[in-house]
Amino acid sequence: MQSPREKGFGQGSLELARWAEGVFAPEDALLNEIRQRSDRAGLPAIHVGRFDGLHLEVLARLAGAKKAVEIGTLGGYSGVCLLRGMGDGGRLHTFELVEAHAEVARESFRRAGFADRVTIHLGNAQEGLRAIEPDGPSDLVFLDADKAGYPAYLAWAGEHLRVGGILLADNAFGWGYIANPEAAPDAAPSLRALNEFAERLARGGRFRATMIPTEEGLALGVKVR
Ligand SMILES: C[S@@+](CC[C@H](N)C(=O)[O-])C[C@H]1O[C@@H](n2cnc3c(N)ncnc32)[C@H](O)[C@@H]1O
Repeated sequence: MQSPREKGFGQGSLELARWAEGVFAPEDALLNEIRQRSDRAGLPAIHVGRFDGLHLEVLARLAGAKKAVEIGTLGGYSGVCLLRGMGDGGRLHTFELVEAHAEVARESFRRAGFADRVTIHLGNAQEGLRAIEPDGPSDLVFLDADKAGYPAYLAWAGEHLRVGGILLADNAFGWGYIANPEAAPDAAPSLRALNEFAERLARGGRFRATMIPTEEGLALGVKVR
């Protein structure tokens, strides 16, 4: 029960967060093992929170997704959640810049029984996305990597999701600074990009979108045109 301290959930109330964890059990032994093995391998502890993982699985189920794209693999935690949500026949293209992260993720997908349903693309997603376009359109795109790239990833999703497909993006609250960027001058470029991303998602015309108010802010849009 560490997520309330790592990633807030439950209106900032530890009591509510513990209650929700007790009832909904967002992290099972497999996901816990991925988190711990990633830590032992020296990966940064920046996987999605326990409830964010559950949101990804449930939303993938809700969308009936069978083809998903993830930007930012890390150790495979969120990828396993997405693959669980897609069930039999689900396939995931996931992009990762760092080989050491991809190596941990390969083992995570193998242990989860998903090795034959996932392709890890090593390198910068902004350059690699073109290669998977013939495999599209996708049912779900999840953004969880370089924030400066979010506007470009959104534009790509606008072109390569099917109508009715969903776009998800973690960290949409800019670590709490999106509405007050002056308080985090070091993060200015990322915050500008996150703001541009949110404006385009909300008002760009291709998506009907909302925010799931997790601690990090999970943006959610359905492609409407
Ligand atoms: C927040 S972590 C992803 C966490 C993962 N989605 C999870 O919850 O298990 C971000 C990852 O994106 C990778 N990354 C950063 N910029 C990238 C880029 N341009 N293309 C591909 N991967 C990138 C980082 O190396 C890091 O592993």
